[in-house]
Amino acid sequence: MKRIVVLISGRGSNLRALVEARLPIEVAAVISNRPDAAGLAFAAGHGIATQVVDHKAFAGREAFDAALGDAIEAQRADLVVMAGFMRLLTPGFIRRFAGRMINIHPALLPAFTGLDTHRRALERGCRVHGCTVHYVTEGMDEGPIIAQASVPVLPDDDADTLAARVLAQEHQLYPAVLRAWSDGAFRLEGERVSWRDACTWPDAAHYPEY
Ligand code: GAR
Repeated sequence: MKRIVVLISGRGSNLRALVEARLPIEVAAVISNRPDAAGLAFAAGHGIATQVVDHKAFAGREAFDAALGDAIEAQRADLVVMAGFMRLLTPGFIRRFAGRMINIHPALLPAFTGLDTHRRALERGCRVHGCTVHYVTEGMDEGPIIAQASVPVLPDDDADTLAARVLAQEHQLYPAVLRAWSDGAFRLEGERVSWRDACTWPDAAHYPEY
């Protein structure tokens, strides 16, 4: 069975969705840069190894990233899955895991990289919004897109209601992408992701009615 390491910083609802999807994938470990991340307790409660690599314990980004990278390598994982991991990573770290690290971002990339995506989407009058799973490259939130899910922006939305609608899609999209990865259904080809059967992904099943 393929092995993943999941990186978190907080709540861990995407981690929970991945675990509860009962994928044919072993979660070798959950690693957090914050000791108080709620997702750690969830993981431990499900018998998953947890580890904290606290960024505050390191003098700088290089030292933190070296320790984090070593912790990941020790798990001999096939893929690093960032699920709400809120640290900027150094180019050296990203190169170390090039092609082996993915992230979920709460916006339809390449729009709204960075933070506060839901408020910014509302401010710009977006009519659709969503989430993206992508490979991690040196440009922040710029890596090759694997899959996306969209939601409508409704007239009465505020950032919280929109975030909740997007998050519900994240919880479907990320497990679906991991399942597809375990099946070898896509691969990275240079700057783009190519799907074995592009016509079946994404399909209507990933877009519930509103
Ligand atoms: C999720 O919405 C995820 O997309 C976002 O953080 C949240 C983590 O929630 N990630 C980013 O903004 C990364 N740039 P969770 O801890 O409940 O999974």
